[in-house]
Amino acid sequence: MNHFIYKNGELHCEAVPVARIAAEIGTPFYLYSHATLSQHFKAFDTPFASIPHLSCFAVKACSNIAILRVFAGLGGGADIVSGGELFRALKAGVDPARIVYSGVGKTREEMAYALKENILQFNVESEQELDALQEVAAGLGVVAPVSFRVNPDVDPKTHAYISTGLAKNKFGIPIETAGEVYARATEMANIKVQGVSCHIGSQLTTVSPFIESLGKLKIFIAKLRDRGIGVTHLDLGGGLGIKYDAESPPLPAEYAEAIKKEIGDLDCTLIFEPGRVIAGNAGILVTRVHYTKAGPSKKFVVVDAGMNDLARPSLYDAYHAIEPVVEGSGGREIADVVGPICETGDFLARDREVPVSAPGDLLAVMSAGAYGFSMASNYNSRPRVAEVMVADDRYRVIRARETYESLIRGEVIPDFLQG
Ligand code: LLP
Repeated sequence: MNHFIYKNGELHCEAVPVARIAAEIGTPFYLYSHATLSQHFKAFDTPFASIPHLSCFAVKACSNIAILRVFAGLGGGADIVSGGELFRALKAGVDPARIVYSGVGKTREEMAYALKENILQFNVESEQELDALQEVAAGLGVVAPVSFRVNPDVDPKTHAYISTGLAKNKFGIPIETAGEVYARATEMANIKVQGVSCHIGSQLTTVSPFIESLGKLKIFIAKLRDRGIGVTHLDLGGGLGIKYDAESPPLPAEYAEAIKKEIGDLDCTLIFEPGRVIAGNAGILVTRVHYTKAGPSKKFVVVDAGMNDLARPSLYDAYHAIEPVVEGSGGREIADVVGPICETGDFLARDREVPVSAPGDLLAVMSAGAYGFSMASNYNSRPRVAEVMVADDRYRVIRARETYESLIRGEVIPDFLQG
């Protein structure tokens, strides 16, 4: 359920006509619905209310501080993967005691920053990272709360680029050998072992891989406890998929039921790192048609948003529905919807039945709230687009459209090229 709906043939975000925002601030822009963000967060979080848990929004999915503030206001935490994401989460008002830090390549500087901010835990992915964390924590005279990310070797049955829980992926420590790493860590003066973590992939459309992985984690935790290693936190990562097209992923409540059933009496605080399932269908990308063009074998609709604004179609061949902002009477036609970038790979949709469009028409690229703006770049020296949030009948720009000046910020013509 989301709040992008047609009223009298016009797409609205909650009570605001999308065309009105386009007329007032120009295109392209990302548009998020506050009601949808809140509703999706609650739909994920509430079914776990009966057990100790924490929902840490995966900041990488949608990093704007206004969005993070919505979840902080609902008692959510943050799953971060960089110092930059920590900075954002703190600026947004996320309680550091609700922040978990994932990722295979944390720098010592990032570790120190997170230690000083007293985050809930580091999800450590390798022995070398553990050694580095011990060293940094010792240098600061503090103790680092640690959970190891174990790799359960479970096939999430999703796109290869976003599978992470297979033995061949770069993530985590193999579950077979992780016990030894735990044993070593318990000997370290500045490491406090508190949990086990796991994230097997993204856009999963069935619960079975989650349950298979949880089954393996339970056995693993029991073995750790047998060795006297305490485990108080189990971080199950993110990954629950959404409907972009014809998928029928489990509802968050169904996912929660399956997890709660499998978890039994495991006496752990559960941590989740949902990203897409909360933000994906809470945001759209609004773009305007520049030109239409009939090639010898194809029709092209050239719009003002490109692969630099929304990378998913080019990068993963991902499907995003494309809908008219104002429903016309022109019917539909098969076309490629392409951007202005100088690459053949620059498309938002290929061979797709789309509304017949004319220059000036507005199109909505749906399900763009997760991994949309957060993956945008300045490629082709295109200023990044604005982000807008609607709450009921109000809208606010939550990130200004970049300017030409912002494109060259930090660039310098060195003295030896001057004069
Ligand atoms: N936790 C960890 C450790 C992760 O690596 C990720 C996503 C998440 C949580 C959140 O996963 P989610 O609930 O959003 O599925 N750019 C790709 C997705 C990459 C996901 C990377 N990790 C895309 O656009 O599909």
